[in-house]
Formats: sequence, C-alpha cells, structure tokens
Amino acid sequence: MPRAVRFDEYGDIDVLKVVEVERPAPGPGQVLVGVKAAGINPGEASIRKGLMHERWPATFPSGEGSDLAGVVEEVGPEVDAFSPGDEVLGWTDQRASHAELVVVAADQLIPKPPGVPWEAAGALFVAGTTAYAAVRAVGAGSGDTVVVSGAAGGVGSLTVQLARLAGATVIGLAGESNHQWLLEHGAIPVAYGDGVVGRIREVTDDHVDALIDTFGGGYVAMAIDELGVSPERVDTIIDWAAAEQYGVKAEGTAAAADTEVLTELVGLVDRGELEVPIARVYPLEEVRDAYRELERRHTRGKIVLVP
Ligand SMILES: NC(=O)c1ccc[n+]([C@@H]2O[C@H](COP(=O)([O-])OP(=O)(O)OC[C@H]3O[C@@H](n4cnc5c(N)ncnc54)[C@H](OP(=O)(O)O)[C@@H]3O)[C@@H](O)[C@H]2O)c1
Repeated sequence: MPRAVRFDEYGDIDVLKVVEVERPAPGPGQVLVGVKAAGINPGEASIRKGLMHERWPATFPSGEGSDLAGVVEEVGPEVDAFSPGDEVLGWTDQRASHAELVVVAADQLIPKPPGVPWEAAGALFVAGTTAYAAVRAVGAGSGDTVVVSGAAGGVGSLTVQLARLAGATVIGLAGESNHQWLLEHGAIPVAYGDGVVGRIREVTDDHVDALIDTFGGGYVAMAIDELGVSPERVDTIIDWAAAEQYGVKAEGTAAAADTEVLTELVGLVDRGELEVPIARVYPLEEVRDAYRELERRHTRGKIVLVP
C-alpha cells in the first residue's frame, strides 16, 4: 500500500506520521501521480499547529503538502493532456502531496522539462508563484531599487532572482552565511538586525523604490516609516496586520497560482536563468526532521521530501 504523511490532531511536529493508505483513484479530470519530490512550506506547519484554523481549518485525518513533481501513473476519464509515464510538476489544493501517490487535477499539472531536476521541480509551485506575485505586485523593473527581507529563504531566494531578471537592483536582507550566495545571484547583501535601516541607506544612497517582505516582524513599517517607500510598492506575504495598517499589498501564491506562471518559471529554471536552491532532501519517513529544520527559519532555498 502507498505511504502518505498524516496527522490526526493539531499539534507539534510529533503529530506527523507516515502511514499506509488506500491507493487513490483518479476521477474525471484527474491524474494519479507517483511523487518523485515534494517541497515543504512554513504555511503547512502553521496549519498543522492549528494557527490557521479560522482561515483554513483542517479535517482529520489530514494529509499535507501542495508542491509536487512526479510521473503520471494513471489518468481518469476526460483527461487528454497526460498519459502514464509523463513527467510532470504542479500542485494540489487537497493537502496531499507529501505521499507516494497523489491525485491531482489535470489542470494543475504541466510537463516537466527533462533537464529540470526532480527536487527543483517538486519545490517550485508555492515559493515560485509567491515570488512571482510579489515581484509583480511591487512592479519591480529596470531602474528600481528593491529591498527583499528573508532574501535567501524559499520565497526570498526566488524573489531576489526574479527581481534581478526584471532589471531591478536588489538589496537582500539575510544572515551572514547567505551573503556570498546573494552576491553570486546579483544582489547586494545586507545583514538584518540592529542598524539595518542605516545599512540599507548606506548601500542605496538613501533611495529605495520598493520592498518585498517575506519574513514579517516589522519590515512593512520599516519600508513606510523609515525608508519612505510608497504603500503601493510594498508587498508582504506574511504580515497581514501590517498590510491592513499601512494599506500595502499582500499578494502571494493565490495571486499567481496558475499553470501559465508555473510554465514560465520552470522554463527559467530549464534555461539556467532561475536557480531553486535545495537546502536539503529528506526521505518521506523523515518528515519530522524536515519540518524541524524548516521551523528554525534559516533555510536557504527549499527543503524537499522524496518518497
Ligand atoms: N502569502 C503566501 O502566499 C505565502 C506563500 C509562501 C510562504 N508564505 C510565508 O512566507 C514566509 C517565508 O516563507 P519561506 O518558505 O520563504 O520561509 P523560509 O524558507 O523558512 O525562509 C526563512 C528565511 O527567513 C530569514 N530570516 C530569519 N530571521 C530573519 C530576520 N530576523 N529578518 C529577516 N529575515 C530573517 C532566513 O534568513 P537567514 O537564513 O539568512 O537568517 C531565511 O532565509 C513564511 O512565513 C511563509 O508562511 C506566504
């Protein structure tokens, strides 16, 4: 029987378990995918802890996981676009990709270019579409100076690169251990913590056009109150209270969750124009260790589960 991650109640990492489940069957318009790689995301930890109960309640037993890449095992009725054996990537909205087998809506899958590694493909959807939405939301382009908080994380590492591709000068806020990576990807690294505003002013000649906040904890206020950025050029993907208070944008995955965006992103990866940094790959059985590492909040790029 196929294995899948499950939890039966809200709680800490130790509620996660890997169990044997019934083999899922694809219905009309659906495809059964044998998962090769599936990214993990901080939002899944928040859901598991019950912190999103008001917004996105869980029903138990719950699976988890949106991102996936794998090989088509079976197609359901009314599916013409895919056949068994096809290599695909995409996403599920059913909290189900952390598993050996997952049923996915055919219109949430795209072909995987052969040159794109499984881990990168399987980690692309949530972080990639979020980064895409954020860069678009602030209108980052040539001549702009854009500050990105959490610049080396799952979303931040892609945001930095997409903003650079759009022609912007990028200031990446990150810990020292990520500064070399940021330099290699065309960004100007700045350490966060005490004095960060002064350090940003120094490297930007006191002119910042836009800020993308992937971390929370005061970066929106910093953008508006201290750096003088206009609210319509600030996007946060996590600080909803600040978005409301300051009237800034809060565009994330939902604003760019479609196959056209995913196709564009995987094309960039295939052409070597966008790197999906893979911090670590864990076997599915080690799902708890994978989230332990993620929840330290110092991941560079993505953590991926491999069934
Ligand atoms: N709205 C949406 O659609 C959406 C979608 C995806 C994610 N999110 C949310 O966005 C956030 C980021 O997700 P992610 O996957 O990128 O997380 P992640 O991969 O865990 O990234 C965490 C990053 O935060 C940085 N960091 C730690 N302390 C910091 C500080 N004090 N100031 C600035 N940066 C700091 C770390 O940098 P160093 O290692 O350099 O210290 C690390 O690179 C999460 O809260 C997630 O839930 C929202």
